[in-house]
Amino acid sequence: MAIKNVAVVGGGTMGNGIAHVFAQNGYETVLIETKQEFLDRAISTIKKNLERQAKKGKITGEDISATMGRLKLSLDINDAKSADIVIEAVFEDPHTKGGIFEKLDSICRPQTIFASNTSSLPITAMAADTSRPDKFIGMHFMNPVPMMKLVEVIRGIATSDETFKIVKELSEAVGKTPVEVNDYPGFVSNRVLMPMINEAIYCVMEGVAKPEDIDTVMMLGMAHPMGPLTLADFIGLDVCLDIMNVLYEGYSDSKYRPCPLLKKMVHAGFLGRKSGRGFFVYDK
Ligand SMILES: NC(=O)c1ccc[n+]([C@@H]2O[C@H](COP(=O)([O-])OP(=O)(O)OC[C@H]3O[C@@H](n4cnc5c(N)ncnc54)[C@H](O)[C@@H]3O)[C@@H](O)[C@H]2O)c1
Repeated sequence: MAIKNVAVVGGGTMGNGIAHVFAQNGYETVLIETKQEFLDRAISTIKKNLERQAKKGKITGEDISATMGRLKLSLDINDAKSADIVIEAVFEDPHTKGGIFEKLDSICRPQTIFASNTSSLPITAMAADTSRPDKFIGMHFMNPVPMMKLVEVIRGIATSDETFKIVKELSEAVGKTPVEVNDYPGFVSNRVLMPMINEAIYCVMEGVAKPEDIDTVMMLGMAHPMGPLTLADFIGLDVCLDIMNVLYEGYSDSKYRPCPLLKKMVHAGFLGRKSGRGFFVYDK
């Protein structure tokens, strides 16, 4: 099946970037949100990011107009009806996502592929609640979507080879590098990244080194572009804690226990960049 029409549900941090990338690469794209103010915010971010790309000489003014011309904004989920693929990027909450897929399942054609951008929820379980588990898949884009090359393409237990092939080729068609991953907690990205961040937090808690020094070790010693604690502040410490809990519960293995200091900081509201304070202090 050739993909021509794309629907993106949720226009927050990830959804606006996903809609940007598909519209820019020639796909008729509808971005669906719950309130006009969220659509306004999404479209202004997309415009700003397109203009930044133009300033760098990567695209022209005509590319911006063409991209905007392919992008439709909507407050009605029924506008996903004619999509060949729907990419869901709403809050990381199984009930919210489940309700959306239930509705989509009732309005979309049987051949429409459903993809979730979840960072941590099981694809297999979400797929099982629809009538099309073979056409359900994870597309885990990275933030910021227009810049980051990787898409983890996550196969649920019932995802068909055909669905995987279509989504892999689609990811390549929008300039991304897809990596095939099977559905286990944390996929590959968060299963490797989060325990490293958690261990860096243990180092702070145990007084092994100061946060800036831990980051320096990883940047200068391991060639990481950003230290783990700066990255944790960027991701959000609440998000890091949620993902550690997914790993801890998903594998029932104590090696994934979230660091008590991480829990304490989240309880204190020290969530990183978004709250102005995490391991480092930021201007709000
Ligand atoms: N932020 C990241 O770095 C990142 C990276 C990879 C994956 N993810 C995943 O992407 C998904 C979205 O995360 P985000 O950071 O963009 O969240 P966000 O809070 O920035 O955006 C979520 C958006 O979904 C919208 N929404 C909620 N219910 C909706 C509905 N019923 N219909 C339409 N829109 C609805 C909200 O209004 C909001 O704008 C999550 O599953 C998250 O785990 C996030």
